[in-house]
Amino acid sequence: MNLILLGAPGAGKGTQAEVICEALKIPTISTGNMLRAAVKNGTKSGLEAKGYMDSGKLVPDEVVIGILKDRIAEDDCKNGFILDGFPRTVPQAEALDSMGVTIDKVVEIYVPDEKIKQRLSGRRVCEGCGNSYHVDFKPTKVEGICDACGAKTVIRKDDEPATVESRLKIYHEQTAPLKGYYQAQGKLVTVEGQEEVKETSRLTLEAING
Ligand code: AP5
Repeated sequence: MNLILLGAPGAGKGTQAEVICEALKIPTISTGNMLRAAVKNGTKSGLEAKGYMDSGKLVPDEVVIGILKDRIAEDDCKNGFILDGFPRTVPQAEALDSMGVTIDKVVEIYVPDEKIKQRLSGRRVCEGCGNSYHVDFKPTKVEGICDACGAKTVIRKDDEPATVESRLKIYHEQTAPLKGYYQAQGKLVTVEGQEEVKETSRLTLEAING
């Protein structure tokens, strides 16, 4: 099964991708995580992406489409995958179509902007493995230390309040039109993302299996 997770920054796409990955045994492809790894490793695409990411802007389509195309050609994607954070523009969705990729379902996780701002101000991410936590909703066992790898957890640079405002604006302008794009194909399902993490996961799996 090939799935797309759609939603505003901080709606919980990454959190739900982990649950779906475990339930369906298919890999998650997060363009955000791939780009952050590229920045960390100082690769050509990482150097190109860094400025856009730090200021909350979208990385140019051609860079992201190139990264995505290589990743879905890998062996572990043969039985399906979860796209977390791609596509984010209509040209990216069209590129996916022109690669001949069939998308089975697009799950939109809906959370209003005010709640998003509250969530992102409490998010902490692991410097080592990239795991994501929240100071209130998903705390680490030991404050400031990743449960999975023991490295330090930090605030993501693009989670500063002014950058979050800009990311939300870009989401509404450039990414939200994808809802209409996939609704026209009969693939869009919307899940209420304001519930507790467990309840959102139950609704998400129900939407995928239903
Ligand atoms: P990316 O990493 O994809 O960021 P994003 O879409 O802005 O999404 P986030 O990772 O911020 O949030 P999420 O929805 O995964 O939420 P999470 O589960 O962490 O992209 C980063 C940047 O890379 C972009 O700005 C852009 O520059 C670039 N980029 C990436 N893909 C691109 C593309 N295709 N084209 C162009 N540029 C691209 O949850 C958020 C917090 O809330 C966490 O702390 C979590 O613990 C908590 N939480 C989650 N669910 C709940 C719940 N139900 N209740 C309470 N708290 C919850």
